[in-house]
Amino acid sequence: MATAVPGPVEKVDLRPVAAADVEAIAALARIIWQSTYAEIITQAQIDYMLGQRYNAPRLLEELATPGIWWDQAFVEGERVGFAACYLSGQPGELKLDKLYVHPGRQRCGIGGALIGRAIEHGRAAGCDTLILAVNKRNARAIAAYEKHGFAVRESVRVDIGGGFVMDDFIMARSIG
Ligand SMILES: CC(C)(COP(=O)(O)OP(=O)(O)OC[C@H]1O[C@@H](n2cnc3c(N)ncnc32)[C@H](O)[C@@H]1OP(=O)(O)O)[C@@H](O)C(=O)NCCC(=O)NCCS
Repeated sequence: MATAVPGPVEKVDLRPVAAADVEAIAALARIIWQSTYAEIITQAQIDYMLGQRYNAPRLLEELATPGIWWDQAFVEGERVGFAACYLSGQPGELKLDKLYVHPGRQRCGIGGALIGRAIEHGRAAGCDTLILAVNKRNARAIAAYEKHGFAVRESVRVDIGGGFVMDDFIMARSIG
């Protein structure tokens, strides 16, 4: 059966994430992670990774660190997504570390708008390549990244502690 695909949203308002936003970002992350990863990784791994990546001290530290950019997307005043990227340490390379859009707002161009903002950060910092890691079983995200010009570069398995492993593709695109 065909699935209804929402149309593009008229206006995505992109703003930098500020310290006052960290609780709302963590809450939005939990909603999106539950809807995305429940069929891909265990609940224990979801809880572990959310705790590791979205705790307030960690987010506040990232917001204060040069070379890390956090952006959030609003539609009609509602916070609907966010992204984070950082200089990977490899020459000319920016890593899109997070890209999350509310399940009710996906396929409307918001992810593409956030990728566009990451590309602007990368170009301004003199980068020519944007990379990311995506779970090999996250087919919808892989399709989104391919649509936005990324291709798989390699396959990695990363031990993240707690007995958990990330089984990812590294994808890359030129931003030069
Ligand atoms: C991946 C994600 C960030 C893309 O953001 P988005 O706003 O949906 O992306 P865009 O609207 O710019 O691009 C849409 C493309 O994404 C893919 N896509 C996104 N959601 C999809 C869905 N529910 N079903 C099928 N394809 C989907 C399709 O390729 C789609 O293109 P199409 O509509 O022309 O077929 C978003 O879907 C998301 O947050 N997913 C859950 C969290 C996640 O997996 N994040 C990535 C972690 S590495």
